[in-house]
Amino acid sequence: MQRVTARAGANIALIKYWGKRDEGSNAPATPSLSLTLDQLTTTTTVTRLSGASQTIRDTFSINGETLSGKGADRLRRYLDLWRNEGLIEGPFAVSSQNSFPTGAGLASSASGFAALATALAAFSRKPLSKRLLSQLARRGSGSAARSIPGGIAAMPLSDDPAAREIVPADEVPWGMVIAEVESTPKAIGSTEGMNLSRDTSPYYTAWLATARRDYKAMLGAVKALDFTAVGELAEANSHAMHACMVATRPALLYWNDVTLRVLHELARWRKAGTVEAYATIDAGPHVCLLARREDLDRVLNLASKLPGVARARINLPGPPATVLEVG
Ligand code: DP6
Repeated sequence: MQRVTARAGANIALIKYWGKRDEGSNAPATPSLSLTLDQLTTTTTVTRLSGASQTIRDTFSINGETLSGKGADRLRRYLDLWRNEGLIEGPFAVSSQNSFPTGAGLASSASGFAALATALAAFSRKPLSKRLLSQLARRGSGSAARSIPGGIAAMPLSDDPAAREIVPADEVPWGMVIAEVESTPKAIGSTEGMNLSRDTSPYYTAWLATARRDYKAMLGAVKALDFTAVGELAEANSHAMHACMVATRPALLYWNDVTLRVLHELARWRKAGTVEAYATIDAGPHVCLLARREDLDRVLNLASKLPGVARARINLPGPPATVLEVG
């Protein structure tokens, strides 16, 4: 086997991961729960390079552009982790395609590392369980662990956490409209931002406690498929994370004026009975609108018309990360 292609969907957390208990292994300081998306995907082809790893180095490209500097270093270190664990051997060429803007606060590291881990697993010298694969994806990026199972996935706190499926994609009665507000790369990445929040935000400890409570309540709401409870909890949890971010010094202010406009409109739609949808926002300005499947077209229509929304698209719950081709 020389070449493997795998695909994974991005996921949007309904209970957010913000903070690390252990940076080396990316063990999160908050439990998290997410919805995997079917339209925002990364497709990654991993090709074995012939020759010894001492003389030939791994190569990386994203959307056809060769990656160098910090981005390539992070991926090379990730392959080293697999090599050091004795799972793979030798150098590889990794080529990824994203169906959405990279590094703009739209969870590209989640789908990216989940797709990469899934492709690498096909080269593994040892069999890897789904649980171990999720743990390995987490070592690349914390949120990537949740893109391995797909559907609604939950990652509890533990020493070596893995995400597991709570509701399979086709049984989730909701979807999301992603309102893309801009696509410039984010100012401060998640890893650095989390460390800054831990070190300087006066609300960090309160955030950790809130996240634990919200996670417990969310598990119950999701299992009961109670949309209103899920939406209210997701929106409140996202706001609590952003409160912690904004109070970080210097402030991590990921929202812009369009983000706020969407939030105000959304509250109006709910109040007027136009549509019941809820917002959740990651480390960027985009707004992810959670709605019942039957309401997604209406939410798309409303969101697309808002000034400053560059693009809005419907995402249904996405499948687990999968191998597409082996050659
Ligand atoms: C706000 O998974 O990108 O999207 O583990 O440092 O790679 P690293 O961070 P990452 O952080 C995601 C943060 C978030 C919330 C979430 O997805 O849970």
